Amino acid sequence: MANRSLQSAKTAKNDEFYTRFDDVQRELNYYKEQFKNKVVYCNCDDPAESAFAEFFKLNFDHFGLKKLVCTRYSKSDLFRQLDPVKKYGYRLEITGRNSLQKIDLKGDGDFRSPECIELLKESDIVCTNPPFSLFREYIAQLMRHNKKFLIIGPINAITYKEIFPYIKDNKMWGGYVNPKEFINPQNKIEKLGNVQWWTNLDVKKRHEELPLYEKFVPEKYPKYINYDAISVDKTAEIPSDYFDAMGVPISFLDKYNPDQFEILGISLELARPMSELAPKGTYMQGGARFYIANGDGTFERKFDRIVIKRKGKNEDSSQNHKG
Ligand SMILES: C[S@@+](CC[C@H](N)C(=O)[O-])C[C@H]1O[C@@H](n2cnc3c(N)ncnc32)[C@H](O)[C@@H]1O
Repeated sequence: MANRSLQSAKTAKNDEFYTRFDDVQRELNYYKEQFKNKVVYCNCDDPAESAFAEFFKLNFDHFGLKKLVCTRYSKSDLFRQLDPVKKYGYRLEITGRNSLQKIDLKGDGDFRSPECIELLKESDIVCTNPPFSLFREYIAQLMRHNKKFLIIGPINAITYKEIFPYIKDNKMWGGYVNPKEFINPQNKIEKLGNVQWWTNLDVKKRHEELPLYEKFVPEKYPKYINYDAISVDKTAEIPSDYFDAMGVPISFLDKYNPDQFEILGISLELARPMSELAPKGTYMQGGARFYIANGDGTFERKFDRIVIKRKGKNEDSSQNHKG
Protein backbone atom coordinates (compact mmCIF):
# COMPACT_ATOMS: atom_id res chain seq x y z
CA MET A 1 0.00 0.00 0.00
CA ALA A 2 2.79 2.38 1.04
CA ASN A 3 4.57 1.45 -2.16
CA ARG A 4 1.53 2.21 -4.24
CA SER A 5 1.05 5.70 -2.80
CA LEU A 6 4.78 6.32 -3.25
CA GLN A 7 4.44 5.32 -6.90
CA SER A 8 1.40 7.56 -7.49
CA ALA A 9 3.15 10.48 -5.78
CA LYS A 10 6.11 9.93 -8.11
CA THR A 11 3.86 9.74 -11.18
CA ALA A 12 2.06 12.95 -10.17
CA LYS A 13 5.43 14.63 -9.64
CA ASN A 14 6.43 13.63 -13.17
CA ASP A 15 3.35 15.49 -14.40
CA GLU A 16 4.69 18.77 -13.04
CA PHE A 17 6.55 20.33 -15.94
CA TYR A 18 5.37 23.46 -17.64
CA THR A 19 5.27 24.52 -21.27
CA ARG A 20 7.35 27.44 -22.47
CA PHE A 21 5.51 30.36 -24.08
CA ASP A 22 7.72 30.14 -27.20
CA ASP A 23 6.74 26.52 -27.77
CA VAL A 24 3.04 27.34 -27.50
CA GLN A 25 3.46 30.27 -29.87
CA ARG A 26 5.54 28.38 -32.43
CA GLU A 27 2.95 25.60 -32.79
CA LEU A 28 -0.24 27.64 -32.39
CA ASN A 29 0.71 30.04 -35.17
CA TYR A 30 0.14 27.23 -37.70
CA TYR A 31 -3.54 26.97 -36.73
CA LYS A 32 -4.68 30.60 -36.46
CA GLU A 33 -7.50 30.24 -39.01
CA GLN A 34 -8.88 27.15 -37.27
CA PHE A 35 -9.29 29.01 -33.96
CA LYS A 36 -11.39 31.82 -35.43
CA ASN A 37 -14.64 32.30 -33.51
CA LYS A 38 -13.99 29.26 -31.32
CA VAL A 39 -14.40 28.62 -27.60
CA VAL A 40 -11.02 27.41 -26.35
CA TYR A 41 -10.68 25.39 -23.17
CA CYS A 42 -7.35 24.91 -21.38
CA ASN A 43 -8.36 22.36 -18.77
CA CYS A 44 -5.03 21.69 -17.03
CA ASP A 45 -3.91 25.29 -16.80
CA ASP A 46 -3.45 27.64 -13.94
CA PRO A 47 -4.59 30.91 -15.58
CA ALA A 48 -1.92 32.84 -13.68
CA GLU A 49 0.96 30.55 -14.59
CA SER A 50 0.24 28.66 -17.80
CA ALA A 51 1.85 29.69 -21.09
CA PHE A 52 -1.31 28.49 -22.85
CA ALA A 53 -3.43 30.92 -20.82
CA GLU A 54 -0.93 33.69 -21.47
CA PHE A 55 -0.77 32.99 -25.20
CA PHE A 56 -4.54 32.96 -25.67
CA LYS A 57 -5.03 36.05 -23.50
CA LEU A 58 -2.49 37.97 -25.59
CA ASN A 59 -3.80 36.64 -28.89
CA PHE A 60 -7.52 36.71 -28.10
CA ASP A 61 -8.29 39.29 -30.77
CA HIS A 62 -5.52 38.30 -33.18
CA PHE A 63 -6.89 34.73 -33.27
CA GLY A 64 -10.49 36.00 -33.28
CA LEU A 65 -11.46 33.79 -30.32
CA LYS A 66 -15.03 33.74 -29.08
CA LYS A 67 -14.16 32.71 -25.54
CA LEU A 68 -11.26 31.38 -23.48
CA VAL A 69 -11.75 29.21 -20.40
CA CYS A 70 -8.85 27.98 -18.24
CA THR A 71 -9.25 25.78 -15.18
CA ARG A 72 -6.68 25.33 -12.46
CA TYR A 73 -6.23 21.96 -10.79
CA SER A 74 -5.91 22.60 -7.07
CA LYS A 75 -4.01 19.42 -6.28
CA SER A 76 -0.93 20.19 -8.31
CA ASP A 77 2.36 20.53 -6.43
CA LEU A 78 2.87 23.98 -7.85
CA PHE A 79 -0.55 25.11 -6.69
CA ARG A 80 0.16 23.80 -3.19
CA GLN A 81 3.43 25.73 -3.09
CA LEU A 82 1.74 28.93 -4.22
CA ASP A 83 -1.40 28.62 -2.19
CA PRO A 84 -1.22 25.85 0.43
CA VAL A 85 -4.50 26.76 2.16
CA LYS A 86 -6.94 26.88 -0.74
CA LYS A 87 -8.46 23.54 -1.66
CA TYR A 88 -10.46 24.50 -4.68
CA GLY A 89 -9.64 25.15 -8.26
CA TYR A 90 -10.84 28.17 -10.13
CA ARG A 91 -11.57 29.07 -13.66
CA LEU A 92 -10.84 32.10 -15.71
CA GLU A 93 -13.22 33.09 -18.48
CA ILE A 94 -12.43 35.68 -21.09
CA THR A 95 -14.91 36.80 -23.70
CA GLY A 96 -13.15 39.94 -24.87
CA ARG A 97 -10.38 42.37 -24.08
CA ASN A 98 -12.24 43.90 -21.13
CA SER A 99 -14.33 40.98 -20.12
CA LEU A 100 -12.43 38.76 -17.72
CA GLN A 101 -14.02 36.75 -14.92
CA LYS A 102 -12.38 34.69 -12.19
CA ILE A 103 -14.82 32.14 -10.78
CA ASP A 104 -14.25 29.59 -7.98
CA LEU A 105 -14.87 25.98 -8.89
CA LYS A 106 -16.89 23.70 -6.63
CA GLY A 107 -14.23 21.02 -6.76
CA ASP A 108 -10.52 20.66 -7.36
CA GLY A 109 -10.56 21.36 -11.12
CA ASP A 110 -9.89 17.76 -12.14
CA PHE A 111 -10.48 17.57 -15.91
CA ARG A 112 -12.72 14.54 -15.22
CA SER A 113 -14.96 16.32 -12.68
CA PRO A 114 -18.59 17.00 -13.68
CA GLU A 115 -18.13 20.79 -13.70
CA CYS A 116 -15.04 20.55 -15.92
CA ILE A 117 -16.85 18.14 -18.23
CA GLU A 118 -19.64 20.72 -18.55
CA LEU A 119 -17.03 23.31 -19.57
CA LEU A 120 -15.56 20.79 -22.01
CA LYS A 121 -18.96 20.26 -23.60
CA GLU A 122 -19.35 24.01 -24.12
CA SER A 123 -15.96 24.34 -25.78
CA ASP A 124 -14.87 23.88 -29.40
CA ILE A 125 -11.12 23.27 -29.06
CA VAL A 126 -9.16 21.95 -26.10
CA CYS A 127 -5.58 23.13 -25.94
CA THR A 128 -3.12 22.26 -23.18
CA ASN A 129 -0.29 20.10 -21.93
CA PRO A 130 -2.18 17.56 -19.77
CA PRO A 131 -0.73 15.20 -17.13
CA PHE A 132 1.12 12.45 -19.01
CA SER A 133 0.26 9.93 -16.28
CA LEU A 134 -3.42 10.33 -17.31
CA PHE A 135 -2.83 10.67 -21.05
CA ARG A 136 -4.91 7.63 -22.07
CA GLU A 137 -7.83 8.77 -19.95
CA TYR A 138 -7.43 12.33 -21.17
CA ILE A 139 -7.60 11.34 -24.86
CA ALA A 140 -10.50 8.95 -24.22
CA GLN A 141 -12.50 11.81 -22.71
CA LEU A 142 -11.79 14.11 -25.66
CA MET A 143 -12.85 11.38 -28.08
CA ARG A 144 -15.99 10.58 -26.08
CA HIS A 145 -17.03 14.20 -26.33
CA ASN A 146 -15.97 14.48 -29.95
CA LYS A 147 -13.77 17.51 -29.30
CA LYS A 148 -11.18 19.18 -31.45
CA PHE A 149 -7.84 19.34 -29.64
CA LEU A 150 -4.26 20.49 -29.84
CA ILE A 151 -2.31 19.13 -26.89
CA ILE A 152 1.19 18.12 -25.86
CA GLY A 153 1.79 14.46 -25.06
CA PRO A 154 4.33 11.67 -25.08
CA ILE A 155 5.69 10.52 -28.46
CA ASN A 156 5.45 6.90 -27.37
CA ALA A 157 1.66 7.23 -27.00
CA ILE A 158 1.81 5.75 -30.53
CA THR A 159 2.52 2.40 -28.88
CA TYR A 160 -0.29 2.62 -26.28
CA LYS A 161 -2.95 0.10 -27.18
CA GLU A 162 -5.65 2.61 -26.22
CA ILE A 163 -4.17 5.35 -28.43
CA PHE A 164 -2.86 3.57 -31.53
CA PRO A 165 -6.35 2.79 -32.93
CA TYR A 166 -7.09 6.54 -33.05
CA ILE A 167 -3.89 7.12 -35.05
CA LYS A 168 -4.63 4.22 -37.35
CA ASP A 169 -8.18 5.49 -37.97
CA ASN A 170 -7.02 9.06 -38.62
CA LYS A 171 -8.66 10.46 -35.51
CA MET A 172 -5.45 12.03 -34.18
CA TRP A 173 -2.01 12.84 -35.54
CA GLY A 174 1.15 14.78 -34.81
CA GLY A 175 1.59 18.54 -34.97
CA TYR A 176 4.47 20.52 -36.44
CA VAL A 177 7.26 21.26 -33.93
CA ASN A 178 8.30 18.97 -31.08
CA PRO A 179 8.89 20.99 -27.89
CA LYS A 180 12.17 19.96 -26.28
CA GLU A 181 12.46 22.14 -23.19
CA PHE A 182 10.06 22.62 -20.30
CA ILE A 183 10.10 24.48 -16.99
CA ASN A 184 10.19 22.41 -13.80
CA PRO A 185 8.62 23.40 -10.44
CA GLN A 186 12.00 24.83 -9.38
CA ASN A 187 11.67 27.21 -12.33
CA LYS A 188 14.58 25.56 -14.14
CA ILE A 189 14.66 24.48 -17.77
CA GLU A 190 14.44 20.72 -18.23
CA LYS A 191 15.12 18.95 -21.53
CA LEU A 192 12.60 16.29 -22.58
CA GLY A 193 13.21 14.50 -25.84
CA ASN A 194 10.10 12.36 -25.97
CA VAL A 195 7.33 14.90 -26.37
CA GLN A 196 5.23 16.07 -29.30
CA TRP A 197 2.00 17.86 -30.18
CA TRP A 198 -1.07 15.71 -30.77
CA THR A 199 -4.07 17.06 -32.60
CA ASN A 200 -7.09 16.42 -34.76
CA LEU A 201 -6.97 19.91 -36.27
CA ASP A 202 -5.91 20.02 -39.87
CA VAL A 203 -2.17 19.93 -40.42
CA LYS A 204 -0.88 20.88 -43.88
CA LYS A 205 1.88 18.27 -44.07
CA ARG A 206 -0.72 15.47 -44.03
CA HIS A 207 -1.73 16.57 -47.50
CA GLU A 208 1.79 16.55 -48.92
CA GLU A 209 2.66 13.55 -51.02
CA LEU A 210 5.77 11.69 -49.92
CA PRO A 211 8.08 11.39 -52.96
CA LEU A 212 9.15 7.77 -53.51
CA TYR A 213 12.37 7.02 -55.40
CA GLU A 214 13.24 3.38 -54.74
CA LYS A 215 12.22 0.33 -56.80
CA PHE A 216 11.13 -2.91 -55.17
CA VAL A 217 13.79 -5.66 -55.21
CA PRO A 218 13.07 -8.74 -53.03
CA GLU A 219 16.69 -8.94 -51.80
CA LYS A 220 16.58 -5.39 -50.50
CA TYR A 221 13.14 -5.71 -48.89
CA PRO A 222 12.92 -9.14 -47.20
CA LYS A 223 9.61 -10.32 -45.76
CA TYR A 224 9.27 -10.64 -42.01
CA ILE A 225 9.27 -14.16 -40.60
CA ASN A 226 6.36 -13.49 -38.25
CA TYR A 227 4.12 -11.22 -40.34
CA ASP A 228 3.25 -11.03 -44.02
CA ALA A 229 4.84 -7.70 -44.94
CA ILE A 230 8.14 -6.53 -46.40
CA SER A 231 10.69 -4.82 -44.19
CA VAL A 232 11.46 -1.18 -45.05
CA ASP A 233 13.98 0.21 -42.57
CA LYS A 234 13.80 3.86 -43.62
CA THR A 235 10.79 5.92 -44.67
CA ALA A 236 12.89 7.37 -47.51
CA GLU A 237 13.31 3.83 -48.88
CA ILE A 238 9.61 3.01 -49.35
CA PRO A 239 9.50 1.53 -52.87
CA SER A 240 7.42 3.41 -55.41
CA ASP A 241 6.16 0.24 -57.11
CA TYR A 242 5.02 -1.86 -54.14
CA PHE A 243 1.35 -1.93 -53.15
CA ASP A 244 1.18 -4.61 -50.45
CA ALA A 245 1.86 -4.48 -46.71
CA MET A 246 5.17 -2.90 -45.64
CA GLY A 247 6.64 -2.44 -42.16
CA VAL A 248 8.12 1.03 -41.66
CA PRO A 249 9.67 2.82 -38.67
CA ILE A 250 7.31 4.74 -36.39
CA SER A 251 8.93 8.00 -37.56
CA PHE A 252 7.04 7.42 -40.83
CA LEU A 253 4.01 9.02 -39.13
CA ASP A 254 5.67 12.38 -39.54
CA LYS A 255 5.39 11.94 -43.34
CA TYR A 256 2.06 10.13 -43.36
CA ASN A 257 -0.45 11.38 -45.88
CA PRO A 258 -3.74 9.44 -45.50
CA ASP A 259 -4.56 9.94 -49.18
CA GLN A 260 -1.34 8.19 -50.15
CA PHE A 261 -1.11 5.44 -47.51
CA GLU A 262 -3.33 3.40 -45.25
CA ILE A 263 -2.18 2.20 -41.83
CA LEU A 264 -2.87 -1.49 -41.23
CA GLY A 265 -1.48 -1.86 -37.71
CA ILE A 266 1.55 -1.90 -35.45
CA SER A 267 4.05 -4.69 -34.82
CA LEU A 268 3.11 -4.76 -31.13
CA GLU A 269 -0.32 -6.06 -32.14
CA LEU A 270 0.47 -7.92 -35.37
CA ALA A 271 3.71 -9.83 -34.71
CA ARG A 272 3.29 -13.57 -34.29
CA PRO A 273 5.23 -14.90 -31.30
CA MET A 274 8.65 -16.11 -32.46
CA SER A 275 8.40 -18.97 -29.96
CA GLU A 276 5.90 -20.53 -32.40
CA LEU A 277 8.31 -20.20 -35.33
CA ALA A 278 11.93 -20.62 -34.31
CA PRO A 279 13.98 -22.41 -31.66
CA LYS A 280 15.08 -20.48 -28.58
CA GLY A 281 18.51 -18.97 -28.97
CA THR A 282 18.09 -18.11 -32.66
CA TYR A 283 16.52 -14.72 -31.96
CA MET A 284 16.62 -12.01 -29.32
CA GLN A 285 13.48 -12.11 -27.17
CA GLY A 286 11.46 -9.17 -25.90
CA GLY A 287 8.18 -7.54 -26.81
CA ALA A 288 6.07 -8.27 -29.85
CA ARG A 289 8.41 -7.32 -32.70
CA PHE A 290 8.96 -8.28 -36.30
CA TYR A 291 11.97 -10.42 -37.27
CA ILE A 292 13.78 -11.11 -40.53
CA ALA A 293 15.96 -14.12 -41.29
CA ASN A 294 19.71 -13.53 -41.27
CA GLY A 295 20.25 -16.51 -43.58
CA ASP A 296 22.28 -18.50 -41.04
CA GLY A 297 19.39 -19.84 -38.94
CA THR A 298 19.27 -16.74 -36.71
CA PHE A 299 16.82 -13.84 -36.86
CA GLU A 300 17.20 -10.07 -36.56
CA ARG A 301 14.71 -8.28 -34.35
CA LYS A 302 13.38 -4.97 -35.63
CA PHE A 303 12.28 -2.00 -33.53
CA ASP A 304 8.56 -1.16 -33.34
CA ARG A 305 7.14 -0.96 -36.84
CA ILE A 306 3.97 0.43 -38.36
CA VAL A 307 2.46 -1.60 -41.16
CA ILE A 308 1.24 0.48 -44.08
CA LYS A 309 -0.02 -0.02 -47.57
CA ARG A 310 -0.06 2.33 -50.53
CA LYS A 311 -3.43 3.61 -51.68
CA GLY A 312 -4.50 4.13 -55.24
CA LYS A 313 -3.71 0.91 -57.08
CA ASN A 314 -6.57 -1.44 -57.71
CA GLU A 315 -4.94 -4.58 -59.09
CA ASP A 316 -3.46 -7.13 -56.71
CA SER A 317 0.20 -6.25 -57.03
CA SER A 318 1.18 -9.20 -54.82
CA GLN A 319 1.05 -11.28 -58.01
CA ASN A 320 4.03 -9.30 -59.24
CA HIS A 321 6.04 -9.81 -56.11
CA LYS A 322 5.34 -13.42 -55.15
CA GLY A 323 8.33 -15.56 -54.31
C1 LIG B 1 2.48 18.59 -17.79
S1 LIG B 1 1.76 19.74 -16.65
C2 LIG B 1 1.43 21.09 -17.71
C3 LIG B 1 0.79 22.25 -17.08
C4 LIG B 1 0.34 23.33 -18.07
N1 LIG B 1 -0.75 22.84 -18.87
C5 LIG B 1 1.48 23.76 -18.95
O1 LIG B 1 1.44 23.45 -20.13
O2 LIG B 1 2.41 24.38 -18.45
C6 LIG B 1 0.19 18.98 -16.37
C7 LIG B 1 -0.61 19.67 -15.30
O3 LIG B 1 -1.86 18.99 -15.13
C8 LIG B 1 -2.18 18.98 -13.74
N2 LIG B 1 -3.06 17.86 -13.44
C9 LIG B 1 -2.74 16.66 -12.91
N3 LIG B 1 -3.84 15.90 -12.77
C10 LIG B 1 -4.87 16.64 -13.25
C11 LIG B 1 -6.25 16.41 -13.35
N4 LIG B 1 -6.77 15.25 -12.97
N5 LIG B 1 -7.04 17.39 -13.86
C12 LIG B 1 -6.50 18.57 -14.27
N6 LIG B 1 -5.19 18.85 -14.18
C13 LIG B 1 -4.38 17.90 -13.68
C14 LIG B 1 -0.84 18.82 -13.07
O4 LIG B 1 -0.91 19.27 -11.74
C15 LIG B 1 0.07 19.67 -13.95
O5 LIG B 1 0.16 20.99 -13.48
